[in-house]
Amino acid sequence: MKNFAVIKNKIKKFNKKIFVPGDKSLSIRTVLLASQGVGVSNISNLLEAEDVLNSLAAIKKLGIKYTKVKKKYRIYGLGLNGYSPKKNTTIYAGNSGTLGRHLLALVVKINKKIRLTGDMSLSKRDFSRIAEPLKLFGANIKLNNKSLPVDIVGSNFLRPITYFENIGSAQVKSSICFAALNTPGTTVIKAKKSRNHTELLFKYLNIPIKLKSSKNFDLIKIKGLNNYKSFNYSIPGDISSSAFFIVLTMLSNKSKILIRNVNVNETRTGIIKILNKMKANIVLKNKKKYKGEMIADIQVTSSPVLKSINCPPSLNSSTIDELILIFLVAGVKTKGVSTFKDLSELNKKESPRLDLAINFLRMIGVKVKRNKNDIKIYGKPNLSLDGAYSIKNFLKDHRIFMMSCVAALTLGGKWKIFDKDSINTSFPSFIKILKKLGAKIN
Ligand code: S3P
Repeated sequence: MKNFAVIKNKIKKFNKKIFVPGDKSLSIRTVLLASQGVGVSNISNLLEAEDVLNSLAAIKKLGIKYTKVKKKYRIYGLGLNGYSPKKNTTIYAGNSGTLGRHLLALVVKINKKIRLTGDMSLSKRDFSRIAEPLKLFGANIKLNNKSLPVDIVGSNFLRPITYFENIGSAQVKSSICFAALNTPGTTVIKAKKSRNHTELLFKYLNIPIKLKSSKNFDLIKIKGLNNYKSFNYSIPGDISSSAFFIVLTMLSNKSKILIRNVNVNETRTGIIKILNKMKANIVLKNKKKYKGEMIADIQVTSSPVLKSINCPPSLNSSTIDELILIFLVAGVKTKGVSTFKDLSELNKKESPRLDLAINFLRMIGVKVKRNKNDIKIYGKPNLSLDGAYSIKNFLKDHRIFMMSCVAALTLGGKWKIFDKDSINTSFPSFIKILKKLGAKIN
């Protein structure tokens, strides 16, 4: 089957209600946590995408059974000492940094060699950021020049650590929480602000965790080696998947969308705060709490020309996966110059997204000035294209593919966008939903 999308027409005006699939961060975290809980956990609306399916395959390799009954996943957790991997087990994390980093943390206590591997994109990513704290706990870790494959041999003699996480990486912070779970004593983490799903899940599961927040940092204390019970969880929709439809609607004419039942945890809603500062029309409706998380319907109406923004870098982490979409809005829908700063983390994702987003904007005729990790985007309000565009990204980044589709459907021109199957990583139904809104994609 051909592995590209052809888009030759702008999407016509639409007014629809949609659901997006379950949140990826919560899907991976609940699968991994259920694998160490005591008893059978039931997870519904689990995201059925490769990153999560690889998480299920990973716990299976560690000796944990799971089944799917009707639409629910049942995970048969055996408690904190429940893993029983075979000798020389290799676990494949695919494209997922979240799975890879959390998995290493979950096996800190397994006194057998486990090898972690991944696809081409994951194999280029930095694993020293998680190896460093895990070594302090007492695990033995061998990296391949900071990256995969990683060999880990856990220890029976783990010690709690005090760690300063100053990248603002939720994957690092949360992985340390997972390692702390398996370690005697109290682990203390001072962490630059980032998504806090793990902390909220620990609270919900009555795992001993103490949280203190200041403006820029969180202080987390976790008392380890306390078994926790299995649980039931229904995963809300993913704001990172919703983001493509938020921006699609904003950039389309006279359109409106309601995205139902989305996780709108404050540590994830940077995109809404930033776009609304630019005078977008995004409203949260039916807000409610679910097991510590905040859920709402997101209503978006198309925008006329927006205001440029000087984006506070403190918002970067709460919209790290959506920044490329925000750059697109700044490029094609605003009057004036927008600035974004401290973007180094963006080049450490599934592909160098900062470099690719800048190239993309320049390719469609938007001026971008770059100074190391800061950029200035010179808005071209209501940019309209009629050229031919071909998008290839050799690391097959799912979000670059989906952002390109949003641009193609709203700006005009004739597009061939390669690596369509990359959506299987996080959002397999992406094209199906676009078609439901009326998009013509071949
Ligand atoms: C994630 C954290 C973020 C994000 C990733 C998912 C998570 O990465 O980009 O897609 O689930 O913890 P970093 O923590 O590396 O910033």
